[in-house]
Amino acid sequence: MSPPRKRKDAAAAESLVVPERRDFLRGQLLEWYDRQKRDLPWRRTRDPYAIWLSEVMLQQTQVATVIPYWERFLQRFPTVEALAAAPLPDVLAGWRGLGYYSRARNLHRAAQEVVARFGGKLPSTAAELLSLPGFGRYTAGAVASIAFGEPAPLVDGNVARVLSRLFEVEGAPGDRVREARLWALATELVRGERPGDFNQALMEHGATVCRPENPLCLLCPVREGCLAYLHGRVDELPPARVRAAPKRMTLAVAVWAHEGRLLLARRAEKGLFGGLWELPAAEVEDDTPDTDSASRLAEALGVSLSARGHLGTVRRQLTHRSLSLRLLQVTGLERPTEAPAFRELRWCTPDEASALGMSTAMHKALEAAVAAGALQG
Ligand code: ADE
Repeated sequence: MSPPRKRKDAAAAESLVVPERRDFLRGQLLEWYDRQKRDLPWRRTRDPYAIWLSEVMLQQTQVATVIPYWERFLQRFPTVEALAAAPLPDVLAGWRGLGYYSRARNLHRAAQEVVARFGGKLPSTAAELLSLPGFGRYTAGAVASIAFGEPAPLVDGNVARVLSRLFEVEGAPGDRVREARLWALATELVRGERPGDFNQALMEHGATVCRPENPLCLLCPVREGCLAYLHGRVDELPPARVRAAPKRMTLAVAVWAHEGRLLLARRAEKGLFGGLWELPAAEVEDDTPDTDSASRLAEALGVSLSARGHLGTVRRQLTHRSLSLRLLQVTGLERPTEAPAFRELRWCTPDEASALGMSTAMHKALEAAVAAGALQG
């Protein structure tokens, strides 16, 4: 055998997908994408920053929800420089309602690094992007391929489902062997022309046709190449992830009013709702009596205070938490301006408070407190 032939055989032996199947899947998916893709606003721009922003927002949020947020955020912070120069609370305020605020904190830090290390221009390879805060394999692959045309792979939940059906990949989400195989398949498939469109075709296909429930196999452009379809196993693959039940979390929330203003606190950078503003809150047990809750809040605020009454409870369901915010009307002789457990304190009118970067849960708590008459008397 001649040396060139040998090299080719070796490459074929290492690959997971035979060339004919690869060409079929790529060709069909790209053609389908060209015909069927949704007209989404970030598909009309070539600005890497705008594309990056869309990918970060889309990570845990549905397309329909993301669109208005993406448009507003770009109006408010139109460039990497503008984002980098903005104070973090303003960035978090622009994110309110999207949840998973660590995405916004990382975005902000990454923008600052892009300015400091790359002169304000987002680097164009997945390897360099990975060095920025908030960039994991998925985001790096998405931005490198969509904004810069690098044949970098990506696997998100939709792509994982599509590939696990096409190639009959066993194992539940989170299984390491399965993940490695999915990434290896994505890496092989993305090589070729239009890598950004190909990655988006895979995601789009998962979102609209190869859906988790009731997949539309009869409309599928790659049905003939789908092992799960051929073997009647589409409904079995991938197996459902075993999710832990959301943890209950109860927060005692201090509603401290003084001359038409309420006490607001900004949390430390780390942890749930890190960096966000709130009515000062402290975690308590579900059955903690109000007097003990008031002591916890007094400790967090570094002053003595007393509980005057209850203003109701606001409940909010997050993916991993069932939150209860118990509104406790408090007062004290000494009004704090700084506190051990918080980055910053401010006394705000309700309008001023609303403009701060606050979680949706806390925003509802603020509204409930005002509606319950916190500022009267
Ligand atoms: N989900 C996340 N990013 C996407 C994109 N660019 N196209 C389709 N679905 C996506």
